[in-house]
Amino acid sequence: MEKSTQYELRLADRMARLGTETAFEVLNKARALERQGKEIIHLEIGEPDFDTPKNVVEAAVDALNKGWTHYGPSAGLPELRQAIAEDVSRSRGVKVTSDEVVVVPGGKPIIFFSLLALADVGDEVIYPNPGFPIYESMIDYLGAKAVPIKLHEETDFGLDVDELAGLITDRTKLIILNSPQNPTGGVLSRQQIHDVADAISDRNILVLSDEIYSRLIFEGEHYSIMSEPGFKERTILLDGFSKTYAMTGWRMGYGVMRPDLATHITRLMTNSNSCTASFTQIAGVEALVGDQSSVDHMRAEFQTRRDVFVAGLNRIQGFSCRMPKGAFYAFPNITQTGWKSKDLADALLDQAGVACLSGTSFGKYGEGYLRFSVANSLENLNKALQQIDRWTKKNL
Ligand SMILES: Cc1ncc(COP(=O)(O)O)c(C=O)c1O
Repeated sequence: MEKSTQYELRLADRMARLGTETAFEVLNKARALERQGKEIIHLEIGEPDFDTPKNVVEAAVDALNKGWTHYGPSAGLPELRQAIAEDVSRSRGVKVTSDEVVVVPGGKPIIFFSLLALADVGDEVIYPNPGFPIYESMIDYLGAKAVPIKLHEETDFGLDVDELAGLITDRTKLIILNSPQNPTGGVLSRQQIHDVADAISDRNILVLSDEIYSRLIFEGEHYSIMSEPGFKERTILLDGFSKTYAMTGWRMGYGVMRPDLATHITRLMTNSNSCTASFTQIAGVEALVGDQSSVDHMRAEFQTRRDVFVAGLNRIQGFSCRMPKGAFYAFPNITQTGWKSKDLADALLDQAGVACLSGTSFGKYGEGYLRFSVANSLENLNKALQQIDRWTKKNL
């Protein structure tokens, strides 16, 4: 054997199927430009720009001082599972008990673990496109078949239930829903969710309902498929602390599911993380049962910024943007610019100093769109609008 190839890295084949989240790559590129002295406005990353509420930080510090620094149960501390069960029972209007709750480090592991537990090679999983890129990445990674359901701009990025029905086969194991939605800001109406439930009522298909933005809704009320009659047993509800309480770096989320599945997800936790950090879970109880005014404040701020930013985008040549009903993203259609999404996102970063994401970072149906996060100050959002406007006037 030749010396130079003796220790060649021999990766498992499945690694070639693992995708990524482009937001982190664009962030790195933007930071590199900043190191060269360029000024960049960051509208690429999907996290609240607010600090974690003080009462939550204080609860974590207190927990550290009191010795919550050891392993805990893999499914989560009983006090947090109970608080989540009560919170979900109240917000989704269905009785949930703590043995149906699994606490994990962030919302993402619920996607990973649910797919690991349910999707065999060749099984089909239907997922929204454009959508959070981790769904497709994980489905592909496991050798299951990723079946995209297109979200339509004309209906504020809702899904067409007849199209969904047409995608269901005998191999369909799971349908992923996400509302409020990343990247479009779309919110599925009660009627749409009811129709989805109807479309699969006589099939043995589970739903992974990603509701990580459930508290960031600007019009109407959040509605979960878990609240549909008969669907509590068929839903894996994903929610967490990252977006609602500006706790992205704490890594804490949860799944709510039937107890027989919760046992398996817990075993995956035992095999991977052992448990979610104990002192953060104590702070999680405070987040849920303590003062909620910071959540209301954040939502109001995001709504103001959304209004300003979307109105501004609609004044820019070639851009047209629907009003997002939830989350903190704007997803303008840019087909009239004549540019491809990725090229335009690159040009705006390099030449206009605005970092955003190409719609194609969220799947093939994202072509023709860009995603901007409004998790930045009004001042910066206005500056970004001016810079994009100036760039388009010069280049289109
Ligand atoms: C739709 C969606 N689901 C899940 C997550 C993951 O959340 P977490 O940071 O808690 O893992 C995100 C984060 O951006 C998201 O947008």
